[in-house]
Amino acid sequence: MEIKKIPLPDEKKKARFTDESQLGFGRIFTDRMLMVEWKAGKGWVDARIEPYAPFVLDPACLVFHYAQEIFEGLKAYKWTDGTVALFRPEMNARRFNLSADRLCMPTVPEELFLKGIEELVQLEKDWVPSAEGTSLYIRPAMIAVEPVLGVKPSDHYYFYVIMSPVGAYYASGFKPVKIMVEDKFVRATPGGTGEAKTGGNYASSLKAGLEAKKKGFDQVLWLDGVHKRYIEEVGAMNMFFAYEDRVVTAPLEGSILHGITRDSVLKLVASFGLKVEERKIDVIELMNDIRSGKVKEAFGSGTAAVVTPVGALSYKDECLTVDDGEVGKLTQKLYDTLTAIQYGKMEDSFGWIKKI
Ligand code: PLP
Ligand code: COI
Repeated sequence: MEIKKIPLPDEKKKARFTDESQLGFGRIFTDRMLMVEWKAGKGWVDARIEPYAPFVLDPACLVFHYAQEIFEGLKAYKWTDGTVALFRPEMNARRFNLSADRLCMPTVPEELFLKGIEELVQLEKDWVPSAEGTSLYIRPAMIAVEPVLGVKPSDHYYFYVIMSPVGAYYASGFKPVKIMVEDKFVRATPGGTGEAKTGGNYASSLKAGLEAKKKGFDQVLWLDGVHKRYIEEVGAMNMFFAYEDRVVTAPLEGSILHGITRDSVLKLVASFGLKVEERKIDVIELMNDIRSGKVKEAFGSGTAAVVTPVGALSYKDECLTVDDGEVGKLTQKLYDTLTAIQYGKMEDSFGWIKKI
């Protein structure tokens, strides 16, 4: 499908950020966005890259009432030679369509998803920051815009992509975070929408997140929704626990996100010669293993969070420091290797990089 390029008048060009160390996460947006509409009986129509602007939407639109919405997150990285590269974007295209299917939304042809993002990034290349740890965060999303109050799949959707130059997701940067195992609220249940990237999963997590913050924790670690016993994931990251010779993470059984960084971390860990175990992790055993020193490191992975060290984990009334509470060797090596591949400083032997 041809993607129309709507001219960007000078008066719509935004002032560029000046201090890349102050970018934060997701507060400023580039000049242009991708927009494509889907209409029942017509399919995908009118693909265009246009000036970034607010939507004017009917207050009755389905997305506002019944949350028929999905999104994705990926990044463009600027290399020292000026190259701009995406990391495994086809994985985002596939996951977007799995989410679309779960939410009864139309799937976006993978070619359109990828071409739309590549052409948008190409036009906005100047917006990709280059300071260490910065990147251009790309947010594809789809919303249901039919104005009707009956509960049903929409007959009209917007698929759009916006982009934001970002620094670290956690304000503290690459420092160990403190995580609280959530034992009151649950995020997902078998058969629910846990493995879809849909806004409702995040809205329903806010209350637990606020309560954890009040208690001095950065994030909550969710347990399974049936037994409240097995480790699932953190709000924006998959979780890993490193023992002497192996790394353990929760299996993909329908209630957690199929993290693209998770998959990359597992492949890197295996390439380092360590064993990888995707298995149910009993929180009580995990706490015992942290207490006895068997768990050497804990860390999370995500596009926004990259590889984030976890220095302390609390469950019920006990808060344990993981090893010495500092960044572990494996965590550091994974962060260094992953970012070296993303920023073109190391050979991409996995075929993960897509240059623009
Ligand atoms: N889990 C949740 C709930 C997330 O929102 C994210 C972020 O995208 C992740 C895990 C990590 O996934 P990925 O590595 O694909 O960014
Ligand atoms: C990402 O890492 O891309 C995410 O979607 C996490 C988001 C909640 C900031």
